[in-house]
Amino acid sequence: MITIKGVRKTYKAGDTEVKALRGIDLEIHKGEFISIAGPSGSGKTTLLNLIGCIDTVDEGKITIDEEVVTELDKEAKTSYRRNKLGFIFQSYNLIPVLTAYENVALSLQLLGLKEKEIKERTMTILKEVGLEGMEDRRPAKLSGGQQQRVAVARALVKNPLIVLADEPTANLDSHTGEEILKLMKKMNEKHGTTFIFSTHDKMVMEYASRLVSIHDGEFTSDERR
Ligand SMILES: Nc1ncnc2c1ncn2[C@@H]1O[C@H](COP(=O)(O)OP(=O)(O)OP(=O)(O)O)[C@@H](O)[C@H]1O
Ligand SMILES: [Mg+2]
Repeated sequence: MITIKGVRKTYKAGDTEVKALRGIDLEIHKGEFISIAGPSGSGKTTLLNLIGCIDTVDEGKITIDEEVVTELDKEAKTSYRRNKLGFIFQSYNLIPVLTAYENVALSLQLLGLKEKEIKERTMTILKEVGLEGMEDRRPAKLSGGQQQRVAVARALVKNPLIVLADEPTANLDSHTGEEILKLMKKMNEKHGTTFIFSTHDKMVMEYASRLVSIHDGEFTSDERR
């Protein structure tokens, strides 16, 4: 479903160049729960940002569901992200002035759905992630784990093709992080959504159905479990 071919990305900062990705090839199938693992600076975020149409490749091609996303213009990329992709971040990235409900509903409002459908889908997903009764709380009144549950709900409520999660447990203690992983896995199994997540945490890797390791912008191993 996702084909990554010959992807290279170099960052230029003044006179210095950083080769963040040096020729990445990868095929990801629908429904995979795949972890991109590697040390700090190995290129994990760069790769997720390219798959997520947040950044542009220097060379190579990324195809998602027969659409060559690396050839889309800026506007088309924004629309692609909004319609087809869900994002989960290390620092949750919720909107502080909105309640849990409003943070999740917003992604459906951006798709122009009717209020009744938005309400039904938002309430259903908040229940699925274990936040029933907390809909009206703002992020500051939720624990880190609860905030990340809101983020999982926000990513999934639009039934995306792919959820991209960049170190989703890095700000959580190991127990709470494991709970979030279990939740993501449950959603992967229930909805068949493809998950791609980055990590350097061994516990997180344990949950992956496939583990791809990256070092200095190159893949060093690819194992199915
Ligand atoms: N905007 C940028 N400008 C310049 N260099 C960058 C930029 N973004 C990333 N880099 C460099 O590219 C390389 C890969 O960075 P990337 O953020 O993809 O690594 P990472 O594996 O996500 O690391 P971490 O685990 O610390 O999040 C690093 O050497 C980084 O310093
Ligand atoms: Mg990173």
